[in-house]
Amino acid sequence: MAPVIRPRRLRTSAAMRRLVAETTLAPSDLVLPMFVADGIDAPREITSMPGVVQHTLDSLRKAADEAVRAGVGGLMLFGVPAAGDKDAVGSGADDPDGVLNRALSELRSDLGDRTVLMADTCLDEFTDHGHCGVLDESGRVDNDATLERYVSMSLAQARSGAHLLGPSGMMDGQVAAIREALDAEGFTDTGILAYAAKYASAFYGPFREAVGSSLQGDRRTYQQDGANRIEALREVRLDLDEGADIVMVKPAMSYLDIVRDVAEISDVPVAAYQISGEYSMITAAAERGWIDRDAAILESLTSIRRAGAKIILTYWAAEVAARLG
Ligand code: PBG
Repeated sequence: MAPVIRPRRLRTSAAMRRLVAETTLAPSDLVLPMFVADGIDAPREITSMPGVVQHTLDSLRKAADEAVRAGVGGLMLFGVPAAGDKDAVGSGADDPDGVLNRALSELRSDLGDRTVLMADTCLDEFTDHGHCGVLDESGRVDNDATLERYVSMSLAQARSGAHLLGPSGMMDGQVAAIREALDAEGFTDTGILAYAAKYASAFYGPFREAVGSSLQGDRRTYQQDGANRIEALREVRLDLDEGADIVMVKPAMSYLDIVRDVAEISDVPVAAYQISGEYSMITAAAERGWIDRDAAILESLTSIRRAGAKIILTYWAAEVAARLG
């Protein structure tokens, strides 16, 4: 009746559990995505993401400073141009006076190298049709014409002071095109955090509100099909060959198997993005009293780390960094 082997012995106290924990979370693992909007004079709540706002330049600077003080590993910036400033080619993306590039310059001069400043390198926030690239006459996203726009956008972001660029449009050859352009202009220290395996996901829903996107159609001709695993590994290998400094899997929680697989083949750090819908699901359930908010947040982040991600992009980065101390 009495077992000799008792695994429960290692769970007898909080101190014992802490001693034997295989996975730990540090503030420096967490990256805070932030939205900065043009043409607003006070921070604006994003209804579908309670607790997350579109910042003004001023409120962004303050929130960024607080997040850095809390110890986050970095900041990932998204720009939201005024609705009237969007056009077919996303001109605001490579305009040095565009909202994202202005925000990058300000934060870089405020924070210098005290944090790692990242920028979303993608056109969807800036195009009036909401796609991540430019369209050809038939309305399809034109891969190679889009690469030219990404190159121009990347150079603008590098000049504005971004340490890492995050191409998230899933165009073929995007990492190589950006790397070549950065090097040609002398930005050899500007790195690329490649959204290497990015799936077409229903969980991006709240993000559309966050960036005021009016997407027509869907992204299934460029983002990956959730049915595929081997394809993700191919995408990651290509990005590694093209010079990615960090590879990311996105979304995180419905794709933890992919995070694990990528961690096994990657010789650069692996990141995962706990996206808007994942944030909103936990927030909504907690607001109804259905789950314990703080415990659910930590459990979700721990599972992403355990799957193999070193770096986690999460809208809770500053809060959790402060909690972890
Ligand atoms: C593309 C981009 C998206 C997200 C990050 N970068 C939207 C998309 O691809 O549809 C989603 C982030 C989130 O949902 O939290 N610029």
